[in-house]
Amino acid sequence: MTATSATTPDRTAESLLAFWAEAGVDAMLLDEPIDRIAAGKIAPPRPPERIPAAPLKPAPAAARNAGPDISSAVAEARRLAAAAQDLDALKAAIAGFEGCPLRFEGAAHQAVFARGRPDAPLVIVGEGPGAEEDQRGEPFVGRAGRLLDRMLAAAGLTDRVFITNTVFWRPPGNRTPSPSEQMICAPFVERAIELIAPRMLLFLGAAAAKSMLKREEGILSLRGRWFEWRGENGLELPAMPTLHPAFLLRQPAAKKKAWSDLVTLTERLDRPERPG
Ligand code: URA
Repeated sequence: MTATSATTPDRTAESLLAFWAEAGVDAMLLDEPIDRIAAGKIAPPRPPERIPAAPLKPAPAAARNAGPDISSAVAEARRLAAAAQDLDALKAAIAGFEGCPLRFEGAAHQAVFARGRPDAPLVIVGEGPGAEEDQRGEPFVGRAGRLLDRMLAAAGLTDRVFITNTVFWRPPGNRTPSPSEQMICAPFVERAIELIAPRMLLFLGAAAAKSMLKREEGILSLRGRWFEWRGENGLELPAMPTLHPAFLLRQPAAKKKAWSDLVTLTERLDRPERPG
């Protein structure tokens, strides 16, 4: 009798499905469509019954902004962000903002703004909320978030961080947020950084690093290096990109790279600030 016989079920298929679900795959499609009507497997569709159209919901502003008019969505985000005088006001402004198409495409529940300390010396920026974050309204509360929390605890950073994302609504199917979606949300991210005035920034994964630093290199070349992040309003802060915890869950061998980045960052954070 082998180890995976009647007494010990083989968990391969189960863990493969869990891996795909974690990666955001919720449907299986072939590359080419199968014409089942031509193959004679199903009857051709009957002409549709005439059903009176349901009244449409008023077209959200996002529908207009999803196209070429990104700049008016960015301008509106800038205006709302600049008017927010504290983090609660910023959170409320984001919740009411209709200029990001993700709000209507991916999010099932709510805007996901941030968690952590409003006086944190370190602001962490991830990519965008996933399903659990969308449901609970806080960033990094799923599997990747639990790994992030363990890493922060091991580095002694648990109570020294404020965590947010480049976009505040879940992208459909957990896809990477597009540069225009990130651009539309950027004034809010930047305003959060201004209000917190941290000593430094940590960007998780390629999508966050590229949009926050406006660079094109891959994350393996960006990670572990110091950059100067410059906000539109002139704020400058040291910033380091590192690997995203979701990537580390898929590639555990890469954890030591992320850990070394976190140690480098913590050493700098622990160094006393030079006056002036
Ligand atoms: N991944 C992210 O980038 N952000 C989250 O909030 C959760 C998962």
